[in-house]
Formats: sequence, C-alpha cells, structure tokens
Amino acid sequence: MGDTILVAYATRYGSTAEVAEVVSDELRKSGATVDLRRVDEVDDLTPYRAVILGSPIYMGKWLPEAQVFVERHQKRLRDMPVAYFAVGLTVMSGTPDAIMRAEASMGQVRMLVNPIDIGIFPGRLESSRLSVTDRAIIKLIRAEAGDFRDLEAVRAWARTLHSKVARP
Ligand SMILES: Cc1cc2nc3c(=O)[nH]c(=O)nc-3n(C[C@H](O)[C@H](O)[C@H](O)COP(=O)(O)O)c2cc1C
Repeated sequence: MGDTILVAYATRYGSTAEVAEVVSDELRKSGATVDLRRVDEVDDLTPYRAVILGSPIYMGKWLPEAQVFVERHQKRLRDMPVAYFAVGLTVMSGTPDAIMRAEASMGQVRMLVNPIDIGIFPGRLESSRLSVTDRAIIKLIRAEAGDFRDLEAVRAWARTLHSKVARP
C-alpha cells in the first residue's frame, strides 16, 4: 500500500471536478500527498492508502463510471479508508426527504464498500451547456439553473476527513 490519498471523481459538466479539486487542495494543505484523477483514469490502487470518491447525481443516481469504479476495485477499497461525496441540486432545499434521496444515490456503492464518511453538496446547472437530452429533462422537472456550490462547506468537510484517513 502506498502513501498517497486518491481523490477520484466522475463528472459530466465539470462542477464535480471542481469540488474534487477543492477536496484535494484542502487535504494537501493538511500535509497529505494527493492524486486528483477522473475515475476512468485510474487502473491501479496500489499507490494509495485512502480513496475519496465523488460523483454528481443524475436522475437520482451516481454516474455509472463512479459505480463501476467501486465495483471494479471493491476488494482493495474494503482494505482502506474510503469516503464518498455526491453533488446534486435537490439537496439545496435541505429537507430531510431531499437529503435522504441524495444519500440514496450512494446506496449501491455503500453496500459494496462501507465509507468512513459521506458528503453531500449542492452543485451547478448551466442550461446553456447541457446536451439536448439533459436540457429536455431539466425542462420537464423544472430545475433551476445556477451555481449553488458552497466551496467553504466542501473545504470544511475535507478538513474533517484528514484526521479520519490519517495514518495510525
Ligand atoms: C439531466 C439532469 C438530471 C439531474 N438529476 C439530478 C437528480 O436526480 N438529483 C440531484 O440532486 N441533481 C440532479 N441534477 C443536477 C446535477 O447533479 C448538478 O447539476 C451537478 O452539479 C452536475 O455535476 P457535473 O457538472 O459534475 O456533471 C441533474 C442534472 C441534469 C442535467
């Protein structure tokens, strides 16, 4: 097992990549060596001693490539501290139901590998950049466009992670 923390993410329009960047930045500030990678760029977990994995929520679920990452690496992941985060728009309301639904997006991966912690953060929706299909869905569900990310909240979460993934 290596000495580096892996911060891996899936993203469709970049907002989760930026959240992952903030997480890795904060862990680095705490003195950790961190690799920040898109999930599909990671083949081998040997260099890592902990993994922080994040995905945006689309139609109530994590992106498939993030789920596949956990399926593929589940054996190794069970032997190290793992934390998950989800980025979505419905959590903004802060209602217990919205938070429960955001948590449910991680249900499958949590069953495969139990995380030491989870984070749920509001995301960004830029209607001008969406694919035709995504734009149609957004119109149907009448989601509000905008950048609702709270990067200070992400930083605060990442700081709490540092002690949890610290070497004994
Ligand atoms: C087609 C579509 C479906 C979405 N479905 C959900 C959802 O079910 N729950 C949620 O909280 N956010 C949902 N969102 C919001 C995204 O999770 C949010 O915009 C996120 O920041 C996108 O991340 P990305 O820029 O990394 O792709 C949806 C967005 C789109 C475009």
